Amino acid sequence: MYTYIWICFFLVITCISGNNHELNIDGTTANGWEFVRELFQKNFVDERDLGASLAVYHQGNLVVDLRGGWFDKLKSKSYDNNTLQLVFSTTKGLVAAAVALCVQRGLLDYSELVTNYWPEYGQNGKENTTVADILSHRAGLPFDFSPFDDYLNWTLMISKLEQSQPVWKPGTAHGYHALTYGWLAGELVRRVDPKNRTLGEFIRDEIAKPLQIEFYVGLPSEQEYRVSPLDFKPNQTSYDDFNKNNTHRAEIPAANGITNARSLARLYAGLIGNVENNHYQRILTEDILKRAIKSNTPSHEIDFVLNVTTTFAMGFFLLDNVFPSLGAGVFGHQGLGGSIGFAVPAKNLSFAYVVNRLDTETIDIDHRYKSMINDIAQMINRNHATNLINMTGLCGNLRQNYKHDGTSLYMLVQPFLNFNTLLIGLSSQILGTGFQIDLTLTSRAWLHIRILLCLQSIDAFISSSPSAAVRQKITVRTARYFTFGVICFWFLHEIPYYFLQDLVMIENTSMCIMTNAIYAKYRSYFTYLDIYTLIPVIVISIFGSLTYYHTTRFGTGRTLSAFTRQMVKMGLFQTIAVILFNVPYTGEQIYFLTTTNLVKDAYRRAQEQLVTSFFAVYGYGPYMASLIFV
Ligand SMILES: *[C@@H]1O[C@H](CO)[C@@H](O)[C@H](O)[C@H]1NC(C)=O
Ligand SMILES: *[C@@H]1O[C@H](CO)[C@@H](O)[C@H](O)[C@H]1NC(C)=O
Ligand SMILES: *[C@@H]1O[C@H](CO)[C@@H](O)[C@H](O)[C@H]1NC(C)=O
Ligand SMILES: *[C@@H]1O[C@H](CO)[C@@H](O)[C@H](O)[C@H]1NC(C)=O
Ligand SMILES: *[C@@H]1O[C@H](CO)[C@@H](O)[C@H](O)[C@H]1NC(C)=O
Ligand SMILES: *[C@@H]1O[C@H](CO)[C@@H](O)[C@H](O)[C@H]1NC(C)=O
Ligand SMILES: *[C@@H]1O[C@H](CO)[C@@H](O)[C@H](O)[C@H]1NC(C)=O
Ligand SMILES: *[C@@H]1O[C@H](CO)[C@@H](O)[C@H](O)[C@H]1NC(C)=O
Ligand SMILES: *[C@@H]1O[C@H](CO)[C@@H](O)[C@H](O)[C@H]1NC(C)=O
Repeated sequence: MYTYIWICFFLVITCISGNNHELNIDGTTANGWEFVRELFQKNFVDERDLGASLAVYHQGNLVVDLRGGWFDKLKSKSYDNNTLQLVFSTTKGLVAAAVALCVQRGLLDYSELVTNYWPEYGQNGKENTTVADILSHRAGLPFDFSPFDDYLNWTLMISKLEQSQPVWKPGTAHGYHALTYGWLAGELVRRVDPKNRTLGEFIRDEIAKPLQIEFYVGLPSEQEYRVSPLDFKPNQTSYDDFNKNNTHRAEIPAANGITNARSLARLYAGLIGNVENNHYQRILTEDILKRAIKSNTPSHEIDFVLNVTTTFAMGFFLLDNVFPSLGAGVFGHQGLGGSIGFAVPAKNLSFAYVVNRLDTETIDIDHRYKSMINDIAQMINRNHATNLINMTGLCGNLRQNYKHDGTSLYMLVQPFLNFNTLLIGLSSQILGTGFQIDLTLTSRAWLHIRILLCLQSIDAFISSSPSAAVRQKITVRTARYFTFGVICFWFLHEIPYYFLQDLVMIENTSMCIMTNAIYAKYRSYFTYLDIYTLIPVIVISIFGSLTYYHTTRFGTGRTLSAFTRQMVKMGLFQTIAVILFNVPYTGEQIYFLTTTNLVKDAYRRAQEQLVTSFFAVYGYGPYMASLIFV
């Protein structure tokens, strides 16, 4: 009973506390990728994100394309399809791609001296710096203490860098060149480009245009209105200069790239393969890509600036140690405060996340995408062992999804319990009634878990709710608690049954009867009538019809994932099964309870016996019905 009180309490709280904020998540997810939307949405519910966009390419196709939240702190408008975002160092990956493209065209060579292309650089001990040194943060010029306005003047920064003295002998150590990387690598591109373009122009023409992406280094003024302002946490350093429009217009290639997740993910998809059914050709060949993402950092070398081990390839950050679940060969770049773009060639995957609420002090992987990436990896890494489970159809489907959907967890647990009940209960019925082999004492089924079915129908009701806030309330965690709770409840509940009954001889036949009159009454009035039948029928009918109302009335197809829709449909089917099979059984129970004190003749008793046997088997209907799914 407490279970029900608790559920009612929970539901009331859910209904009261829901509905006060709607989340404006927009975009699409491919079949099987719906869980990413739920995790993305959670970042807004938990207020880690204010406005953000997220995109994933798999096997060359855009499988996740989401954005949500607000353009700015005042929530003046939605963070939508048109919104652009400054992504700080995530831009460094784009610069690395531009340099790789120059290498591919024979304009640059990673192992050549910088002075071959840029003679003025050969001053003050930098004479022997190679292109690779610049790209992998080994050039020895990690620091720059110029006033911010100097960063907006390319020629000024270049002449300063030409005259700088390296902090270490170039090539002998590495340390993150947070800002200088951009000018150094960018100047190389500018110097070798036959058309004398700036780095920003080169990127626009040679990368953004062919891939049809938006990724600006040097934003055209007319796009300024689309840039979502960065929101810095009150206690953290605020880099307000990066919200100014003249900063956006300048080219600071290490830090002021402006893009969105869809573009960033397509850039990385376009580095590892053809995109969208060969609609966009890859921009780097397999061979050049291999060279561009090969580590140029001796293993375990400590980063001079960050004082941790970091691994750099030709401008790309190697992320194998950051995302071990994705396997080897993960390359890309993070940006200050939470943005990231990367690709995993072996998995044919690219991922991008861009944000306007910055957490500038998290050194570890950003929490916004940490678990998301593990779940994506899990989905992609499915191996042969899981194929076996997959072959059983629904179970395989559920196994992959139960982590994200409470209803499916019940669905996953239920077949096992049903099977148990059927195996033990039904076989003893058949043996007992059909063959007079009485196994009642040893094999009474205790797992009559129709309650789980109740929970599942409540869950389906909640997950089909038109309000996203209400849908958020049912989580897999609560589902796990309830499942565990129900199993424990039944186990404890059925223990007295085994102690309070005995085998006695009546008219030369052995019969199993209750030795405790109070417990016998409790079982007939409460266990059989209420817990087995009435309560499940009532709860399931109410929530089943409410769920049906939700799905037909609100056209929830728009907001529910395909998987959740399927769960809801299956829940509705079970509702029908329970009503079909349990309502007559309930009627039978009521009949026997109301006629216990009547004196019945032998003929009537024989009739009743027949009816009892029939319903004892008929009552297993719902279990059979749900087994159909397995
Ligand atoms: C990546 O996916 C594309 C599109 O399905 C395919 O053509 C390509 O061969 C895949 N690459 C790898 C390395 O699997
Ligand atoms: C978002 O923009 C892309 C590219 O411009 C377009 O293909 C897509 O249809 C847009 N989506 C929405 C929901 O506006
Ligand atoms: C550069 O390399 C040359 C030849 O190896 C060497 O003679 C010269 O001293 C080096 N210059 C610097 C600044 O290390
Ligand atoms: C940039 O710096 C150079 C060199 O100091 C200077 O000549 C030029 O006027 C500056 N340009 C701008 C736009 O301030
Ligand atoms: C690029 O600059 C070089 C030297 O400044 C010049 O000789 C060449 O004509 C320029 N090319 C273009 C396409 O403007
Ligand atoms: C932020 O600053 C306020 C007051 O300046 C302080 O009370 C609070 O603990 C700080 N929060 C963190 C996370 O440092
Ligand atoms: C740039 O910002 C300044 C001050 O915020 C504003 O006065 C100016 O009109 C803006 N320019 C453009 C092109 O948006
Ligand atoms: C670098 O890290 C080590 C251990 O992590 C620490 O002992 C050392 O003081 C740090 N050095 C600097 C310069 O922060
Ligand atoms: C396993 O099932 C999922 C759907 O749940 C499907 O997407 C996937 O391709 C299946 N895997 C195999 C190896 O059949």
